[in-house]
Amino acid sequence: MPLWGLLRRKQRTLSARAPLSPAPAQSESPPEQEHAVRFQRRYLEDVPYLLPKDEAEIDRLNFQHYALMSVQKVHIVAPLEGSPQAILDVGCGTGLWAREVGHRIPNCRVVGVDIEPPERLPTTPINVQFLASDVLKGLPFDDNSFDLVHQRLLISAIPVHSWPAVVRELVRVTRPGGWLQLTETGGYYHRPGPLSLRVSGLLDRAFERWGFDPYIAEHLPMYLQQAGVHEVETYVYSVVLGEGGGQGGRLLQKDLLALLHALSERMASLIAREEWQHMLEALPAEWAAHQTAFQFHVTVGRKPAAS
Ligand SMILES: C[S@@+](CC[C@H](N)C(=O)[O-])C[C@H]1O[C@@H](n2cnc3c(N)ncnc32)[C@H](O)[C@@H]1O
Repeated sequence: MPLWGLLRRKQRTLSARAPLSPAPAQSESPPEQEHAVRFQRRYLEDVPYLLPKDEAEIDRLNFQHYALMSVQKVHIVAPLEGSPQAILDVGCGTGLWAREVGHRIPNCRVVGVDIEPPERLPTTPINVQFLASDVLKGLPFDDNSFDLVHQRLLISAIPVHSWPAVVRELVRVTRPGGWLQLTETGGYYHRPGPLSLRVSGLLDRAFERWGFDPYIAEHLPMYLQQAGVHEVETYVYSVVLGEGGGQGGRLLQKDLLALLHALSERMASLIAREEWQHMLEALPAEWAAHQTAFQFHVTVGRKPAAS
């Protein structure tokens, strides 16, 4: 049986809807990004993004989407009312979430932005659009434009000091009465064995050294509240890694291992490459023995209606 739980954390007061303001038209062509190729992986050079940006990472992100969805079940956890007119996905990656939401809500304009946006596929619904935008420099939309602003897994893209400004920017483009939905991995394993503890200790040191917050999921409710968001709640999904967690556990184990491998080159400043690889190879057996669980947090909140 998959083991995943849902915990409600915080609740604030309810507010009403207000009209949507249109976003400016943008071109969908990907920008010419500076990039570097190291150890046969491709990295973006002009943003502080830790993960590779190449075909293997596209595969991992698509796979990860299905892994998360197999646990979360629904794309939109926030309690959106009525028919949304416009939804924004920030750091949309391969665009899978945006495309699937566009298919499900055909009358809603769905915009995915990314520093390097995905190519438009023949299967992309006409109501879905992808734009180039660097969230660290601000979003190219008017205030109060979207019924829902979604952002998932930018833990390794937004430096710790930039989070408050990024959250304020997400709130700015959300319409009064609209919702925000932010998903990030939890910083802790549950029931970790010694190897898991060593890996997370190394990752904590690495993230802090690089200026990122490995515990950002815990801090998002506070940032949202500081930006004036109400009705903030966090849903914590906890999944036993591997067979013990059923389909979600099997998929997330594979995804987590691919992610840890993708960080190999960067971790080389803290630990010998071979030792890191050996640890990753040994992790699945330890996860199975300890029934170690991985967590991700979905934090939702509502921008107050204009008074
Ligand atoms: C780990 S991926 C997550 C993708 C997607 N949200 C998902 O859940 O599948 C992070 C994404 O953020 C994008 N990114 C990194 N830095 C960014 C920035 N400063 N502004 C916008 N997008 C950025 C990357 O190109 C990548 O597609």
